[in-house]
Amino acid sequence: MHPLKPAKAVLKNIRQETADVKTYTVQVDGAFSRELSPGQFNMVGYPGVGEAPISFSSLWEDGCIGHTVRSVGAVTAFIDKLAEGDELLLRGPYGKGWPMDIAKGRDLLLVAGGLGLAPLRPVIREVLQSRDSFGTVSLLCGARNEKNLLFTDEYEAWRKKISLFLTVDEAVTGEPWGHSVGLITGLLDRVKPDTAGTCAFVVGPEIMMRFVCRGLMLRGMQPADIFVSLERRMKCGVAQCGHCQHAGFFVCRDGPVFPYAQVTGLMDGML
Ligand SMILES: Cc1cc2nc3c(=O)[nH]c(=O)nc-3n(C[C@H](O)[C@H](O)[C@H](O)COP(=O)(O)OP(=O)(O)OC[C@H]3O[C@@H](n4cnc5c(N)ncnc54)[C@H](O)[C@@H]3O)c2cc1C
Ligand code: FES
Repeated sequence: MHPLKPAKAVLKNIRQETADVKTYTVQVDGAFSRELSPGQFNMVGYPGVGEAPISFSSLWEDGCIGHTVRSVGAVTAFIDKLAEGDELLLRGPYGKGWPMDIAKGRDLLLVAGGLGLAPLRPVIREVLQSRDSFGTVSLLCGARNEKNLLFTDEYEAWRKKISLFLTVDEAVTGEPWGHSVGLITGLLDRVKPDTAGTCAFVVGPEIMMRFVCRGLMLRGMQPADIFVSLERRMKCGVAQCGHCQHAGFFVCRDGPVFPYAQVTGLMDGML
């Protein structure tokens, strides 16, 4: 299939995750690539509305793929109004995802802030399916408050095979909150990464990623063992328009997942 040709997708299931986030399980027409990797994204859109880059939150499960979307602007607000049975157009899969080959055989530390849990969900699914291929796997997950946590009905299954640590900036529901309150960096001491044998995947707001990466390096991890997923405004998704270009690389083509060592300056606002 031509990389710019959109595929037609039918919304088979829509699940409300939080007040402004929904997960769309979509069936894509037969020409769409079977070769999807955790951390890659689609350009998702509709004629006359526009397109937005959206990560895969699930890959080919029961013949469908998943996108988890927060309604923030023109395209995502349009998607938010769709119902099961409606159609969307998808272009992709684009970009380089999480380096699962590097993580295999090592301990894996996953750090997700807010909606960042969406692009890590396919990693978690792969770990659960091939649990023996990884060492210790820990997931640190932060959200503004309990109401903003994603995929909460899956945590019990995840906990059977990986360690899950949760934190919120503020507990608001009045229900007992048996987890941490505070910044996600506060959870780093709970996992104590084995510095030589651990690989870390970090995704969330850029300031959160910056502090988590620094925290990991202070604990002895090397920047080459830490991977981050960058978000930049995108138009084409295929390294043609220049919207996402920075210092000789394109976030859409060369990322969105990069070794922290490669983008340290960019994330520190120096480029
Ligand atoms: C690789 C990648 C993966 C992503 N994955 C997901 C995902 O899985 N789920 C998800 O919900 N989102 C994801 N995003 C983010 C999503 O693509 C953006 O939020 C996108 O802008 C939404 O499009 P929109 O048309 O709905 O909103 P827009 O109209 O683009 O507005 C989005 C926000 O940006 C502001 N904005 C608009 N124009 C500009 C401008 N020129 N400069 C600065 N700010 C501006 C708006 O005020 C608004 O707050 C991802 C982004 C990338 C790059
Ligand atoms: S989005 Fe066009 S160059 Fe990356």
